[in-house]
Amino acid sequence: MATKEQAVDKLKEYGQEHVLKYFDELSADEQQSLIDEIVETDMEVLKHYDEKGAARGVFSPLKTMELNEIDADKARLKEIGINAIKEGKTAALLLAGGMGTRLGSDNPKGMYNIGITKEVFIFQRIIENLLDVVNEAGATPRLFIMTSDKNNDATIAFLKEKNYFGYPADRVNFFKQDMAPACDYNGKLYMEGKGKLATSPNGNAGWYSSMIKAGLDKIIEDEGIEWVNVFAVDNVLQRICDPAFVGATIDAGVEVGAKVVKKAAPDEKVGVICLEDGRPSIVEYYELSQEMMDAKDDKGDPAYNFGVILNYLFKVSALNRIAKEQTMLHVVEKKIPYIDESGELVKPTEPNGYKFEQLVLDLIHMLDSCLSYEVIRENEFAPIKNATGVDSVESARELCKKNGIEL
Ligand code: UTP
Repeated sequence: MATKEQAVDKLKEYGQEHVLKYFDELSADEQQSLIDEIVETDMEVLKHYDEKGAARGVFSPLKTMELNEIDADKARLKEIGINAIKEGKTAALLLAGGMGTRLGSDNPKGMYNIGITKEVFIFQRIIENLLDVVNEAGATPRLFIMTSDKNNDATIAFLKEKNYFGYPADRVNFFKQDMAPACDYNGKLYMEGKGKLATSPNGNAGWYSSMIKAGLDKIIEDEGIEWVNVFAVDNVLQRICDPAFVGATIDAGVEVGAKVVKKAAPDEKVGVICLEDGRPSIVEYYELSQEMMDAKDDKGDPAYNFGVILNYLFKVSALNRIAKEQTMLHVVEKKIPYIDESGELVKPTEPNGYKFEQLVLDLIHMLDSCLSYEVIRENEFAPIKNATGVDSVESARELCKKNGIEL
């Protein structure tokens, strides 16, 4: 248990003494919980609040394994993948710690029902897709699920109630990602209650370190898991532990495989896979220069033509190598609920400060080699970010229908 003295020292060090303004009004339990939170919270991030992000290096194209090349070798690649799955070398890891603010539901995003005539939950779609592989390979990959403080209990209760949609309970492991504090434009911590810092999940790159903290790396080690397929909760057509993708990544001898789709237009708003200073990287759509958009490869196709869909197969030995390195920090302007001078909770309608996030795409840049692996967009990419419009429940429903999924 941390002491008040430790908390005070830490707040002084970071110039955040205002956090104790209401301390004397709190109950003994609340006081202790605030002290613990202060001592446990990573305040180093606050030093970076006014940084605008690191300068980028020199971009160059990364060759993608395209559909025709995959099709020509599919049987062999699949066999390599199926064998790895059968031998228990491949695990699945669902990133479900996000807040899903754009969708606007209070529940975890995976609990969202996209069904029309019957219930079809996002979690259900994902697990059903993974069960296809279980049936094909005759083996059940471990399914790790990352939640956050904000949605952990609701996620676990829901999946239990639904019997994990048919996935064997003893193959599912949950862990919570770390939280990060939020601050105002002067780098001062926001409070969301008199005894509670305003915090939010620290971004999706924290998954491996949070897994280690939760002791789940022991399962990886004990079971000889060599590959972890990390994927987002919101793509309801997501293929997970896809045998041909697993096989191609192993066969290529790389440290990570990335599923990509051909861009719909040169200026489409997706992160594009490429090399940066010779290492794998992802360039955001707003960083793409006109020159990069116009560049052609040796076949005359656009040289930066493939967008990532947040489905990566990471080699465990490579993750262990980079585990102690610091991932790049993204300082993001957000609307942060906070208590004001009079102790009242304010929910701002405009951004009022910064949150700190680490993103999974930065992990890619820390690795030495990457296979960019093309998949058919209409078959594998139906993200749900918004309630309506682009990347929404509506657009995902259309794509599900096209793929013969009853809703
Ligand atoms: P998004 O970038 O879409 O963020 O996450 P989000 O929090 O879900 O949604 P918005 O931006 O608030 O609307 C992409 C994936 O990364 C996970 C999400 O759950 C989703 O699967 N994620 C995101 C985490 O696991 N932790 C985080 O801290 C952030």
